[in-house]
Amino acid sequence: MNKDLASMTPDRPDIITSQIDAINFYPKIDIEATIVEMIAGKYVFVGKLYSDGLKVLSELKRNLQLKYNDKSFQGQRDYRSAFREASQRVLLKVKDHKLTTRKSPDIGWLELLYPEVSEFYISFAQVQGMNSSWQWYQKGIEVKTLDLTLHPYYGTYFPTRFDHLKLFDQWLKRYDGAKTTAIDMGVGSGVLSFQLIQNGFENIVACDTNKNAIIGVSKEVQRLGLEDKITLKYSDLFEDCDVKTDLIVFNPPWLLAKHDLEEGIDKAMYYEGDLFPRFFEQAQKHLTPDGKIVLIFSNLAQVVDKESTHPIIEELQKNKRYTKELHLTRGVNASSKKTKRTDSRSNEKVELWVLTPKAKKV
Ligand SMILES: C[S@@+](CC[C@H](N)C(=O)[O-])C[C@H]1O[C@@H](n2cnc3c(N)ncnc32)[C@H](O)[C@@H]1O
Repeated sequence: MNKDLASMTPDRPDIITSQIDAINFYPKIDIEATIVEMIAGKYVFVGKLYSDGLKVLSELKRNLQLKYNDKSFQGQRDYRSAFREASQRVLLKVKDHKLTTRKSPDIGWLELLYPEVSEFYISFAQVQGMNSSWQWYQKGIEVKTLDLTLHPYYGTYFPTRFDHLKLFDQWLKRYDGAKTTAIDMGVGSGVLSFQLIQNGFENIVACDTNKNAIIGVSKEVQRLGLEDKITLKYSDLFEDCDVKTDLIVFNPPWLLAKHDLEEGIDKAMYYEGDLFPRFFEQAQKHLTPDGKIVLIFSNLAQVVDKESTHPIIEELQKNKRYTKELHLTRGVNASSKKTKRTDSRSNEKVELWVLTPKAKKV
């Protein structure tokens, strides 16, 4: 799976480069009839004002909410899926890497992700996602624990709350084991790798199954001058990793998927049932004799559904491969200091688990 970084191209939203048969949106259009046609499969082209795209999406939402009025979990999931599907048919045009509609945002991803295409159509919904991502990328995310601002690449998970990073920092400050090498499994925006380096680790092998994460961190590594410290691998778990290390760090997805996972950010939030068994099985082969695994996790799944299982506890109980050395927890702060949490997530805690492999009997 691993490819030379220089020849790796990022995942990007689909575009249409051929002529399209579409309804042209204009202010006095019969919007209700247009939405009905759009739901039935017709494209709607927004060519004048960027904000017209918002009008079409808001009308689509209104129409589908009337149709999908079942408020159950499944009913709302069906509504979201119908919205996602139909919303892809509202199109904008891009020419010379710019949106052609008036009052459009400037989105650098249109040039960075599509350098070879000068004219194409793209869905308004995808453009909205790109616009938000571009703003984060330009502004950066200030990570106080690191005293660093990260610039997350398009389609990459990045932290917006920081309690788990503080917990990891506390642990790292007290860690007195070897610091020659570490594996950062699921590198994302690179945040844990940078924490490891700031705390004295010499060499990091950072893996991710998301191509954009690998491309994005490689740019960050260059910007920060850390090329000789971090080796990046586009890899499903340890597939492309032949090293043994003192530490394996993994901040995995925290929720068990009940849907088919898409590549990219979906796989940062949700895991398939076999992810943890595969991880624990493979990790054993990548630890030095005194090596440890540090997992950053959360009780979020249990907060949402008391019946849900905890994959780390399950591993410790079912398989006799690892011993629990430490389990730290920390409450999760509300995003704003002014708001007192009354929501169901007020019991949410982040967790840090340290596991060591059990010695094999000879
Ligand atoms: C919750 S994010 C954590 C990112 C980053 N380490 C952090 O702490 O902010 C989980 C990461 O694991 C990656 N991931 C999920 N499944 C993976 C797999 N099978 N192999 C490698 N990486 C995986 C995701 O793409 C995502 O970047």
